[in-house]
Amino acid sequence: MAAKVLLKNDHIEGIRYYDTYRKHGGYEAAEKALKMAQADIVEEVKKSGLRGRGGAGFPTGMKWSFLAKPDGVPRHLVCNADESEPGTFKDRYLMEFHPHILIEGLLISSFALGSNATYIYIRGEYAWIVNILEEAIDEAKKAGWLGKNIQGTGFDCEIYVHRGAGAYICGEETALIESLEGKRGNPRMKPPFPAIQGLWMRPTVVNNVETLAAVVPIINMGGEEYAKIGVGRSTGSKLLSVCGNVNKPGVYEIDMTISVEEFIYSDEYCGGIPNGKRLKACIPGGSSVPIVPANLLFKTAKGETRYMNYESLSDGGFATGTMMGSGGFIVLDEDQCIVRHTMTLARFYNHESCGQCSPCREGTGWMYKILKNIEGGKGKMSDIGLLWDIQRRIEGNTICPLGDAAAWPVAAAIRHFRDEFEWHVNNPEESQRRNYGLAHY
Ligand code: NAI
Ligand code: SF4
Repeated sequence: MAAKVLLKNDHIEGIRYYDTYRKHGGYEAAEKALKMAQADIVEEVKKSGLRGRGGAGFPTGMKWSFLAKPDGVPRHLVCNADESEPGTFKDRYLMEFHPHILIEGLLISSFALGSNATYIYIRGEYAWIVNILEEAIDEAKKAGWLGKNIQGTGFDCEIYVHRGAGAYICGEETALIESLEGKRGNPRMKPPFPAIQGLWMRPTVVNNVETLAAVVPIINMGGEEYAKIGVGRSTGSKLLSVCGNVNKPGVYEIDMTISVEEFIYSDEYCGGIPNGKRLKACIPGGSSVPIVPANLLFKTAKGETRYMNYESLSDGGFATGTMMGSGGFIVLDEDQCIVRHTMTLARFYNHESCGQCSPCREGTGWMYKILKNIEGGKGKMSDIGLLWDIQRRIEGNTICPLGDAAAWPVAAAIRHFRDEFEWHVNNPEESQRRNYGLAHY
């Protein structure tokens, strides 16, 4: 079902501005939260079952309760707005058109966690959104929701917007922290988790934009009511950004009870595949999650309907399932070449690897070169096995999840579409002829 939670005011002109946002119920959750005990806000978030919307789906209330509170050491909240996962653009939509729901969520969360200096780390390419956020912060400050002694509570909080410089890896929370500290964005080993030692080695919570915005409806309606939206451990609403071969690309809010089939074919959402083409495959959670062929997309391995939620999408593990990830929903029709698609992703991860760990630094380059050869009609049959071997040696052997994210798409492509790899090897001339765009790579 369509959900109207975060985007419930999407139709209201000027909702981007403070006065309009306030007139339509904005900052009522903040008013309520500032009268609550900090621990009670954390409790409401726990009750809501909210899971991190950046991709990992880690329970937010649990993450908040892990935050260390050593005497005299400042704590920080950092909003991860470095949305760079290919296919993912839902945070952009929220920040561009609903900046105040994020600012309000940040205020409530900062209060709950005791952060007097809160940061929004935004991807460099979202330059125009920096202005939108700063304008919203100024408006909120003028209205007394930020700065010193907020609404007479004695709580002080400033929000700073920090623009990244274009590296995908800075979306990984510890690389983001390094970058925010002014250093090269190299991921750190975990543990210690940021909740114990984060920004400037102080206890830090890093949450995604959508996660922090969701704190507003949670406080407004109460954690238990929020948890009633959705199903099982997939509570609340979820934003999805849709792209690829669909009639209606865009950003949608769902309540995670809708089936994958309905989501793709209903006019309310993707509106089906253009030109009557057949569906070939889908990547439901951003480029890092395994691709699923059409025959496994609508039904789980047990033959049950597959739904758009964390549990159902991952049912069957990577053999037949995938992940909800960041909600970047990419649809491929029958004309798309899986080998070419996988090569493009491999190139991306190779380019974005920070280079700290050998399996990722070297392995992503090897995978890209081998895929480029196969796709261009210069591959050997043994290359497919080699590719499989390389991705296996990357997965689980690196400092941060970029290694896994590079390995999984290759593994899934070979697992489900081996025949396409073999076709390229067996048809070198046709592969070269089709290989019209290789010069770009
Ligand atoms: P993760 O599973 O390592 O951690 C999830 C969160 O829980 C982190 O904030 C971590 O600090 C916290 N956590 C886990 N165990 C903890 C413990 N014992 N104590 C304290 N805190 C703990 O995953 P990670 O690296 O945060 O995210 C990976 C995901 O990010 C991938 O699934 C991918 O889909 C997604 N992603 C999203 C992008 C986007 O543009 N939205 C870009 C790239 C990746
Ligand atoms: Fe860097 Fe890749 Fe290692 Fe992550 S996995 S730390 S991106 S080399």
